[in-house]
Amino acid sequence: MSDSPTFWAVVPAAGVGKRMQSDRPKQYLPLAGKTVIEHTLGRLVDSGCFAKVAVAISQEDPYWPELDVSSNPFVITAPGGKERADSVLSALNSLGDTASENDWVLVHDAARPCLTVADIHAQIAALGHDEVGGILALSSHDTLKQVDALNIERTIDRSTVWRALTPQMFRYGMLKHALTETQGNPAVTDEASALEIQGFTPKIVEGRPDNIKITRPEDLALAEFYLEQQT
Ligand code: CTP
Ligand code: MG
Repeated sequence: MSDSPTFWAVVPAAGVGKRMQSDRPKQYLPLAGKTVIEHTLGRLVDSGCFAKVAVAISQEDPYWPELDVSSNPFVITAPGGKERADSVLSALNSLGDTASENDWVLVHDAARPCLTVADIHAQIAALGHDEVGGILALSSHDTLKQVDALNIERTIDRSTVWRALTPQMFRYGMLKHALTETQGNPAVTDEASALEIQGFTPKIVEGRPDNIKITRPEDLALAEFYLEQQT
């Protein structure tokens, strides 16, 4: 096995974007002159960190083949799955012939177009020698409450709670195994949770707050503002 692992990017992009209430999946909505997914993939490809970017696309998706990026030689396409974790596993499987167990995979949501190359480099620098890997995350500026039916039960120690972002960076073999073993488990809402269930301890790397996930209509204007600020 080679000493220096290869880096791969995996982009789940097979969601329908229900909360966006738009006429098309949110990754295809216009944002600052391109679609959301073109910004996201552009950031990953331009970083120069990855051998390939594997994108999970729904089989009923008429928008993807229309984009130039779908024929970019650094981009490969895999069929999407029912849940996000299924889409990620499908994209990992599509790398099966070329990726090694020890390689690193950075899984990044198609709906996060404001990821900076600086954050990718920071994550790789922080975790590149780790046994397990970890995720970009944000601390909370607000006081946090645990509630039951809108009744406050207690105040949570803010320093113990972080918001999980992407990229989520794990070893190819370990991640594929964890997602395969936890398939169908509704508690697996990100890659880290699959590893946690397997008994591993992923790490946190503080990310930038402009790495938002486009979820609701008002997020598009915010993303446009952040992209403008970054240039
Ligand atoms: N995703 C995917 N396959 C699925 C579901 C989601 O690849 N079966 C992707 C989405 O395309 C998105 C990322 O996972 O890039 C994060 O998911 P989310 O923000 O929840 O997107 P959607 O599921 O599309 O949105 P919603 O939950 O509002 O329907
Ligand atoms: Mg979703």
